[in-house]
Amino acid sequence: MTYLATTRLDVRRFAADDVAAFTAYRADPDVARYQSWDTFTHAHGTALVEAMQERELGAPGEWFQLALEDRDRRVLVGDVACKVNADETREMEIGFTLARAEQGRGYATEALNALLDHGFGPMHLHRFTAITDARNTAAAALLNRVGMRQEAHFVDNVFFKGEWGSELLFAKLAREHRPAPRLPTTTDPASYPYPSHPPGGIR
Ligand SMILES: CC(C)(COP(=O)(O)OP(=O)(O)OC[C@H]1O[C@@H](n2cnc3c(N)ncnc32)[C@H](O)[C@@H]1OP(=O)(O)O)[C@@H](O)C(=O)NCCC(=O)NCCS
Repeated sequence: MTYLATTRLDVRRFAADDVAAFTAYRADPDVARYQSWDTFTHAHGTALVEAMQERELGAPGEWFQLALEDRDRRVLVGDVACKVNADETREMEIGFTLARAEQGRGYATEALNALLDHGFGPMHLHRFTAITDARNTAAAALLNRVGMRQEAHFVDNVFFKGEWGSELLFAKLAREHRPAPRLPTTTDPASYPYPSHPPGGIR
């Protein structure tokens, strides 16, 4: 199922056919450096893709991984991850990964802009957040490019891969977002049963 279509990408649900390419780029040490995993095997890839068959974009408290496919080349270029905050369902955290060979072409910018449009549009979100390792300059540059503000620099706040690490928190509010002129299209808008939050919220 395609959730969003951008100029070059189909942002879609992962499928069993993706496991080989997905595992290959996640196992790349350059790609894994600032991520939660050290090794990523075919079994990890299979388990994650299988788990995603049961999940939906927007389900509170669960990470949902979306595949990024170059529509013309029919190549899996990377993925984006989203998790709606279970305690504040108008807030969503995002993560992102591109295969090394697909970096430097603007795919992540394109995917995140579409996700922000969708989140602040039909999903009625109030705030997006992202957390990166403070050394991950490519991730920070990407988040700046899509208009996310750095809100915090936590110092030695996580024990990560054998040492204390520092993290940056980025965020963007609905009122700060201007949808791109080329709005992403959903294949089936009726399939997005997101709650329409009234002013003041529904909590
Ligand atoms: C973080 C990550 C996704 C950023 O990828 P990226 O390729 O730098 O970002 P984009 O896809 O938006 O591409 C932007 C680059 O492509 C260039 N570019 C080329 N064509 C472009 C286009 N049509 N539109 C926009 N940018 C374009 C930009 O100039 C920019 O290059 P620069 O970095 O030299 O300035 C990538 O480094 C990655 O996957 N890292 C490993 C995983 C990871 O650490 N994830 C973050 C966890 S928090």
